[in-house]
Amino acid sequence: TIAFLNHQYLPLSEAKISPMDRGFLFGDGIYEVIPSFGGRIVGFSAHMQRMENGLRALEIENPFDRESWQRVIQSLLDKNGAHLGPSIGVYLHVSRGMEMTRNHGYSENLTPTVFAFAFRIPPSQSAHPDEVKGLHVSLAKDLRWQRCHIKSTSLLGNVLHFQEAKRDGKHESILFNHQNEITEATTSNVFIVEQGIVRTPPLDNQLLPGITRKLLIESLINENIQVEEVTISTEKLMNADEIWLTSSSKEVAPVVSVDDNLIGDGKPGPLWRKALLAYDRYKF
Ligand code: PDD
Repeated sequence: TIAFLNHQYLPLSEAKISPMDRGFLFGDGIYEVIPSFGGRIVGFSAHMQRMENGLRALEIENPFDRESWQRVIQSLLDKNGAHLGPSIGVYLHVSRGMEMTRNHGYSENLTPTVFAFAFRIPPSQSAHPDEVKGLHVSLAKDLRWQRCHIKSTSLLGNVLHFQEAKRDGKHESILFNHQNEITEATTSNVFIVEQGIVRTPPLDNQLLPGITRKLLIESLINENIQVEEVTISTEKLMNADEIWLTSSSKEVAPVVSVDDNLIGDGKPGPLWRKALLAYDRYKF
């Protein structure tokens, strides 16, 4: 695999950064994961907008303009396409950079560290929806911080939640806040279906503004499927006709059980299928 580190392309196994990098010491950085299928990038400008917002929130200067980022992504796809195959995710990472001392407070004018690499993601399920089995998930109290709208590389809260679900043999964990309202899952956003209406929690500091979430909402509106951004209680979740998770690598994935309780009839639902196909037509 060929990666990109600080203006250079090199084998991933040779990419090295200083242990004094604030990304390493503090998780002080921003990242993105951008999916591509057959060389076509999904949601490029939306991913760029989110990264720009995150960098601004951390007061890290964006080291590249959008054209330069596009060139990096395209080069990684070109250099790695042959061995990774047609479905590729590109990881972009900008940390605040390094300095030869460890202080919570940072010096101004550090040079951000830029890292990017490409990795295989599952092929789109839209070509074979009948073969999709659906996900088994757990439900857990959201114990992360209160800035989950920032796509920060500080992911320990998500990692601990995910690993707990994995230990229980689950694919993912859906999280709820103090008011028993669903926020998101540990690596994806949450949608439910109630009597033909699609609902998803509104954007705020408790969840990441997922690009797949945004594109799915737009594609549902395009197809005249009713979609609402409203708070969802854990009770509504458990009684939903369908539950879906969205992310760059999962696209739109059906959930068939929560804490071992079946959702609907325990199979991917009919509206999921419509939504996946609508998303697939719209995503590029
Ligand atoms: N995860 N919520 C969280 C906490 C996430 O980490 C992600 C993405 C999403 C979905 O966002 P998007 O649709 O833009 O991928 C929601 C990425 C893929 C990851 O960390 O690997």
